[in-house]
Amino acid sequence: MRLGILTGGGDCPGLNAVIRAVVKTAVLDYGFEVIGFLDGFKGVVENMAKPLSLEDVSGILPRGGTILGTSNRDNPFKYRTPEGIRDMSAQALENLSSWGIDLLITVGGDGTQAIALKFMEKGLKVIGIPKTIDNDLGGTDQTFGFDTARAVATEAVDRLHSTAESHHRIMVLEVMGRDAGWIALHAGLAGGADIILLPEIEFSLEKAAKAVERRERMGKRFSIVVVAEGARIGGKKVYLMKVDDPTQPMRLGGVGRVVAKTLQDAVGLEARYTILGHLQRGGSPTPFDRILATRFGYHAVKAAASGEKGKMVALKGNEIRLVDLAEAVGNPRRVEPNHELVLTARAIGVSFGDE
Ligand code: F6P
Repeated sequence: MRLGILTGGGDCPGLNAVIRAVVKTAVLDYGFEVIGFLDGFKGVVENMAKPLSLEDVSGILPRGGTILGTSNRDNPFKYRTPEGIRDMSAQALENLSSWGIDLLITVGGDGTQAIALKFMEKGLKVIGIPKTIDNDLGGTDQTFGFDTARAVATEAVDRLHSTAESHHRIMVLEVMGRDAGWIALHAGLAGGADIILLPEIEFSLEKAAKAVERRERMGKRFSIVVVAEGARIGGKKVYLMKVDDPTQPMRLGGVGRVVAKTLQDAVGLEARYTILGHLQRGGSPTPFDRILATRFGYHAVKAAASGEKGKMVALKGNEIRLVDLAEAVGNPRRVEPNHELVLTARAIGVSFGDE
């Protein structure tokens, strides 16, 4: 068999570990060939690809980013050309066939897998591998990349404690996650945050201020707030930049500044905010993410070899299973307000700004 592979969407720790596992399994276990398409689906439309050998993947396991490059603006079905937005899917299929690709492995989040699904409906064999630091893809209990983002965010909460305690301040940390609060919830719990503000739980900053005051009455002269970038203030998300391009997602960012200013004004304690940004996405993956990415890569090739198609490898409990790609796409996993971690946090006195 000749497998194609591409990495799409935002970069994410563990992408190189997946590529390595796919190439090693394909070559060593099955005697298959692997062609890597560059810069996500852009490489498929523009025919930018190269064969991947064992040598190409040597030493990349601990490296962040992706050796194939990625992009999150290049949807072949709505492709930006000098003549305007065009459907370039036929060109993409022609390029895949010119490389003799039997099956394409798509490593990405919801956007990438939605495109893979559309190609599948046009007859292309695909297997998806779930990636995103946001951990919001349906069909799997966890995506690779999330564990690393959670570790970086937790370390940030730990470090912010120093200034919070020494200066008796409110320290606000804004973390990524788009419309899902997984990074905020996990890092907040792991780092011992006092207030966690999520997109999935309606909150008010008046109630969050009350939580800071309750702590003050208990003799705690500082508070740590973790806020997810997609958290809504008065029902509205805060944007870093509104992009006038329908092929691009809006860029969230800045809610931490609003939270810090409002709490400072309400409580009278000094407040500072930190936006962690792309630090959460860069650098070396954690051991968990390296192992999960490697398992996903192996199982994707095994699935291809067994004649599977239109599937995504998924973590279910501690096992890797195949789920229908259609089950994963357009079915985002969000934090349920009564999720066990939310109940645990509430039980130990964490405020979600709603009571
Ligand atoms: O989906 C991953 C993610 O890092 C989100 O958490 C964040 O909102 C977005 O991508 C940032 O995208 P960009 O790198 O395009 O600014």
